[in-house]
Amino acid sequence: MENWKHIDAAFLRHPFSHPDDAKEMLYVVRAQGEFLFDQQGKQYIDAAASWWVNLFGHGHPALVRALARQSETLAHVMFSGITHTPAMELSQALVALKGCPAGAVFFSDNGSTAIEVAMKLAWHFQAQNQGDKACFWAFTGGYHGDTLGAMSAGERDVFVKPYTDLLAPVHFLEYNPELGYDLEVIRRRIQQEKPAAFLYEPLLQGAGGMRMQSAETLKPLLELLKQEGVVLIADEVFTGFGRTGTTLASEQLITPDILCMSKALTGGFMPLGATLMSPQIADATEQADRSKRFYHGHSYTANPLACALALETLKEWSSPTWIKNFNALVQSQQERALEWRQQFEDSQARSCGSVLAVDFPRKNSGYFYTDSIGRELYVQGLKAGILFRPLGNVLYSVPPLCIGSEAQERVHGFMDDMLKKYLHK
Ligand SMILES: Cc1ncc(COP(=O)(O)O)c(C=O)c1O
Repeated sequence: MENWKHIDAAFLRHPFSHPDDAKEMLYVVRAQGEFLFDQQGKQYIDAAASWWVNLFGHGHPALVRALARQSETLAHVMFSGITHTPAMELSQALVALKGCPAGAVFFSDNGSTAIEVAMKLAWHFQAQNQGDKACFWAFTGGYHGDTLGAMSAGERDVFVKPYTDLLAPVHFLEYNPELGYDLEVIRRRIQQEKPAAFLYEPLLQGAGGMRMQSAETLKPLLELLKQEGVVLIADEVFTGFGRTGTTLASEQLITPDILCMSKALTGGFMPLGATLMSPQIADATEQADRSKRFYHGHSYTANPLACALALETLKEWSSPTWIKNFNALVQSQQERALEWRQQFEDSQARSCGSVLAVDFPRKNSGYFYTDSIGRELYVQGLKAGILFRPLGNVLYSVPPLCIGSEAQERVHGFMDDMLKKYLHK
């Protein structure tokens, strides 16, 4: 397309973007494996896995075949009063995952809708059981999506502030990976504030800056909340599929009452959200009394193409080839983190499963930045043929599992160069 810059600027609005950034707008025409290609044939390593959705690599043949097969049989049908094989098979496969609540699954369209469903389910369940619930709880620094419910539980930053009056009541617990949590203080707060549910990104806050916390720190808090009857909602939209080292982070913690998945669930091919719930919560949706039933739905609920892709993703994920690739990636990310921690103390170099992250300390740091370091890193990455998606002053890589050693070396080499450039002044 010849005049694409003009068409794009005139007719499109992009997420979290401003016309000032349009200079570096990429026009991607195809993708293969770990690479994206622009209209001039220039190759870019997809170090952000296309906003964390891509799992095995672009155009992975097994997923292409699964999509083609399913589209020949049934592309879509409404899911109210109708069922189909891909949804039934996928629901069974998901509830069998370690760390997943084993009741039922409610499908929706993306990460944010999976969270909306979770918040409504928790509220619904509590209203039927104990009544007396006043709010939700969430960690400071979290991100759960851009719909109103999900936004309410995220950090109340510049992106959220303009909508404050529209938000659901959420009280925040200070995210504190270093010091942990004072359980007695929290117990008292539960009694005063009466939270219906606690929404958390287990072990790894993604958009908040790849902030990690250990299972030893988080687990006692989750156990206390569970004991006190607070519904646990694990947001595994990002952490699913190895981002914390295991298929689900909840495997390393406790099984939540509700668990949300999306992003890599279809290998990065199609949008799909899944909200898994405990048997007790599943039962609460099935009331004889019409006024007490759970009412929610989307036109594309349980889309058969997306469900077929998710089934194939689960199958591939447990195959020896991908397990080998995954372990190699985890190890190489860990080694770099260790090396950089010694070399560049200020970088807070860290890794967690397939994720590697470093900080570039600045006065106004964090995702909600006014400093331009994130932009600088992004632009320099593009020049080097690597697509990063820095979070303010945090540069990270979470590449597709197919990434070859040469591409992985290039990503690490670039990060190393940037650390030398900005931290060794
Ligand atoms: C932890 C977490 N939850 C929810 C979401 C929202 O997902 P989506 O962008 O698909 O709506 C995101 C997106 O980045 C996320 O990281």
